Amino acid sequence: MSKLIRVGAAQIEPKLGDLEANRKKIKSFIEKAAKLSIDLLVFPELANSGYNFASREEAEKCAEKIEDSRTIKLVEDLSSEFNMYIVLGFNEKGEDGLYNSAVLISPDKGVLGVYRKVHLFYREKEIYTPGNSFYVFDTKIGKIGIMICFDWIFPEATRTLALKGAEIICHPANLVLPYCPKVMPWRALENRVFTITANRIGEERDLRFIGMSVICSPKAEYLAIASPNLEEIIFADINPSLARDKKITPLNDIFQDRRSDVYFS
Ligand code: ACM
Repeated sequence: MSKLIRVGAAQIEPKLGDLEANRKKIKSFIEKAAKLSIDLLVFPELANSGYNFASREEAEKCAEKIEDSRTIKLVEDLSSEFNMYIVLGFNEKGEDGLYNSAVLISPDKGVLGVYRKVHLFYREKEIYTPGNSFYVFDTKIGKIGIMICFDWIFPEATRTLALKGAEIICHPANLVLPYCPKVMPWRALENRVFTITANRIGEERDLRFIGMSVICSPKAEYLAIASPNLEEIIFADINPSLARDKKITPLNDIFQDRRSDVYFS
């Protein structure tokens, strides 16, 4: 696949605990993205529910099961109508617990995969069960890996996804610390992949979210950067197949040159 595709991040402000309002917002941003001819759109973490729950009970009240979620059904219908791949941060009621998840939805197959956040941040540890694996999904527009927010601080997350073949890493986020938008070009460079960080804006209780969604290239370029405080869509045209080239010099391939024999585990 060597075609250009248009990828975007929907930087929005979900409303804590209001599934109906969030569905409307998600719908309106997918419609805006369709007008921009976006092929792959990434929403922030927990876009269906908001983030800063006071307790597990409060989070559970607006967690949805993927199979009977009205939000997922809506996004599947819009994905198919607009021929758009969509990654949505999702407060998931799983079979055995709550998960801070992200769902990949494809225009022709509906839900293609679900990633459950591996590295839980701060009070998320009191609410969610951590996931145990990273996944890469082979799609018509490229190989898509997913991680969520705080996963960024562990280089192992992007590395694992890249070693599993990801060309584009979709990164729903609810960032509150200032570092991630500065670091993502380097995560992209050290793995030679494209990254799409979709952050949110606004405040919930004691947390303020920093916006600054970013799309980065395998050469550590910012392809698009959002504002700190506006709801907006940022986008860029990328060729995912460029992420297959892991050469930094004619004699250095960053994957083949790895020395796993001298690293810790
Ligand atoms: C975060 O992982 N939501 C900071």
